[in-house]
Amino acid sequence: MRSYSLIAPAKINLYLEIIGDRPDGYHELSMVLQSIDLGDRVEIRANGTEDFRIHCQHPEVPCDRTNLAYRAAELLKTTYPNAFEQYGGADIFIDKQIPVAAGLAGGSSNAAAVLVGLEMLWDLGLTQPELQDLASQLGSDIPFCITGGTALATGRGNELEPLPDLEGLYVILAKYRSLGVSTAWAYQTYRQQFGSSYVRESTDLAARQKRVHSGPIVKAIALRDEMKVVECLHNDLEKVVLPEYPQVLKLRQTFEQFDVLGTLMSGSGPTVFALTDSREKAEQIRAQVQNTLGNPDLEFWIAKFINTGIQLAPGVH
Ligand code: C5P
Repeated sequence: MRSYSLIAPAKINLYLEIIGDRPDGYHELSMVLQSIDLGDRVEIRANGTEDFRIHCQHPEVPCDRTNLAYRAAELLKTTYPNAFEQYGGADIFIDKQIPVAAGLAGGSSNAAAVLVGLEMLWDLGLTQPELQDLASQLGSDIPFCITGGTALATGRGNELEPLPDLEGLYVILAKYRSLGVSTAWAYQTYRQQFGSSYVRESTDLAARQKRVHSGPIVKAIALRDEMKVVECLHNDLEKVVLPEYPQVLKLRQTFEQFDVLGTLMSGSGPTVFALTDSREKAEQIRAQVQNTLGNPDLEFWIAKFINTGIQLAPGVH
């Protein structure tokens, strides 16, 4: 039976601005997304049956139909029934390294890997836009997870413009093991607290887009001015998540006390990250934050920026 083994990287948000609400119930966003070399390994193995089966050891990852990776397989099956007839189902093995419900797009990246892996397994010959269109139907972050690197994401987060690679930056990620934030909750709360102003101000999308403030960070990336990039780090969702989760606020403040280039909550949280320019410094900052907070529930990861999305895993496929 054929199989493909893929690496599905996590992402962080260097910038997340909520511009307004959309008729489809989502929010109009302007984001800068960055892939990092913390990734799950996803193996897609043809199983000669009529089913997809998810295998994952992580206690918080469901192995049923609610898993986004399963929904990705189902979407390909319904879109390309002839290929499914010909090639049949698959076993999907997820080796989880990316923390769950953490604002790092772990679930989205797994789904992106399933799309890429099944596309190869079923010899579909899809173009990049065709694959991106399927990805958009599944979730806002999934198109980015396929291509990865550094990108400006607008619309729901699914309209991508690649940006020049940011090289040489390291990220220290920290998350309380027992804490997860629902993305839907974060956006809904933001809408409740801050939505009235932009709705009243203008319902015209073109007018809203004029209010976008991502220009400086995009320019800094274009100039590869990393010092300027870190000055522009911003995430609107901090306004609702930090007051609700005092531990996350404390973590954010603790990072600020040390020699970091910048610090921010990623996506809808609760992961907080800090940037630095070497692995040694990253290790040092990790130790300092760990010593300061001394909480056994706190987990850390160190990763570097990468310029790729879903990739074949090195070695046998
Ligand atoms: O697209 P995805 O399913 O990943 O989004 C998860 C949730 O985040 C959505 O159900 C929605 O509540 C919120 N969201 C939003 N606007 C976006 C992206 C996500 O309101 N642009």
